[in-house]
Amino acid sequence: MKISVCGKGGSGKSTVVALLANEARARGYHVLVVDSDESNSGLFRMLGFDHPPVPLMELVGGKTSLKQKMGQPSVLSETRIALTQIPERYLLQRDSLMLVSIGKILQSLEGCACPMGVLSREFLKKLILQEDELAIVDMEAGVEHFGRGVDTSIDSILIVVEPPLESINVGQKIHDLASGIGIKNVWAVMNKVPSEEIAIRLKAELEKRHIEVVGCVYYDADIYSSSLDGSIPVKGVAREVKMVMSSILSRAGMPITT
Ligand SMILES: Nc1ncnc2c1ncn2[C@@H]1O[C@H](COP(=O)(O)OP(=O)(O)OP(=O)(O)O)[C@@H](O)[C@H]1O
Ligand SMILES: [Mg+2]
Repeated sequence: MKISVCGKGGSGKSTVVALLANEARARGYHVLVVDSDESNSGLFRMLGFDHPPVPLMELVGGKTSLKQKMGQPSVLSETRIALTQIPERYLLQRDSLMLVSIGKILQSLEGCACPMGVLSREFLKKLILQEDELAIVDMEAGVEHFGRGVDTSIDSILIVVEPPLESINVGQKIHDLASGIGIKNVWAVMNKVPSEEIAIRLKAELEKRHIEVVGCVYYDADIYSSSLDGSIPVKGVAREVKMVMSSILSRAGMPITT
């Protein structure tokens, strides 16, 4: 399964990616996290690495070189990329948890982020996964990635929605865009929910909009305070994350292996 984690800015996409990646790894999956957010750079820390990976953008000669190749049918020379074929230089790995990063905007006036979108789309399309492998993509905030076609290369979308209406509205837009391009698995996870009462109301609101909810991660004060140093404590929300993971795996027809 290639699952892309989407949602409004700040809704908790990267947090959810890190929580799910750890949970999937604990269940025996080989997990590749793909950092496809060209703005934020702290995902490596959330996953417990002490430095960021060398971006894949460098594999194709950097952004300027990629821009020149953008009209060509492909920018990566490989036709299929298995997890074991990702060059070591671009991969961070701790036992069965792996991280690659597409690229970041580093300077002002360096131009738009379209080349990152092109590379993301092609890398995800060529990525070949075995049954015990999962790719979890930390997507940039909002919906621009749909315009760049990044989502055409994945099979499942997890929308992170927090209670504010604006987050629900962005979630709805993502849901409709994803369904519109034929992605069969489009789910929402509610995040930063402060109470059971709000969980019930938020779930009802999402279901009214025909968005299938796979679970709820409550607001956790330790997660919030740990974000000050970039780490994520998993304990406080472990039960909720387990339920979300089981729900996703069973819907995708994959072994749940608790
Ligand atoms: N369940 C939660 N409980 C408490 N705080 C949370 C929870 N989930 C996320 N947060 C906090 O919300 C903030 C934003 O989280 P995160 O960086 O994961 O969001 P994001 O959607 O990836 O943001 P961006 O759009 O900037 O990439 C962080 O301070 C994080 O600690
Ligand atoms: Mg993020």
